[in-house]
Amino acid sequence: MTETPLVMVLNGPNLNLLGSREPQIYGHDTLDDIAARLEDQAQALGLAVDIRQSNHEGHLVDWLHEAGARGALAVILNAGAFTHTSIAIHDAIKGIAVPVIEVHLSNPHAREDFRHISFVAKAAKGSISGFGAASYRLALDAAAALRH
Ligand code: DQA
Repeated sequence: MTETPLVMVLNGPNLNLLGSREPQIYGHDTLDDIAARLEDQAQALGLAVDIRQSNHEGHLVDWLHEAGARGALAVILNAGAFTHTSIAIHDAIKGIAVPVIEVHLSNPHAREDFRHISFVAKAAKGSISGFGAASYRLALDAAAALRH
């Protein structure tokens, strides 16, 4: 039997506060709510998901390397504010042979100027933003479409 393809879903700083953090921007779902729906969706798609969150940049770098070492099908990455600052995360994406799907709940381009640059987008396969928690569902569908 062939192994179930793996999608790692990596979440960066402050996303542990989803549900209570600026709900007018990010909605009322918690990260656990989103994770539970992704688990169900993954099962229906025949994928395995490994969903994590950290407030520390280096953890995200290490987990991207891990996705490469595990031969993941894709990484879904919401790097939070590190999106706009982190060349280390950009370089980690470049350094692995795994497509990375950038995700945001909000649409950073419709917000403050400092959110208009994305070091993740410059290295990612593609980006999905602005659909609230549904951005993650769309990203998992995009990951499934990478299977061949
Ligand atoms: C975010 C957008 C970022 O600009 C912000 O720093 C976040 C959340 C989003 O999902 O909309 O932390 O990545």
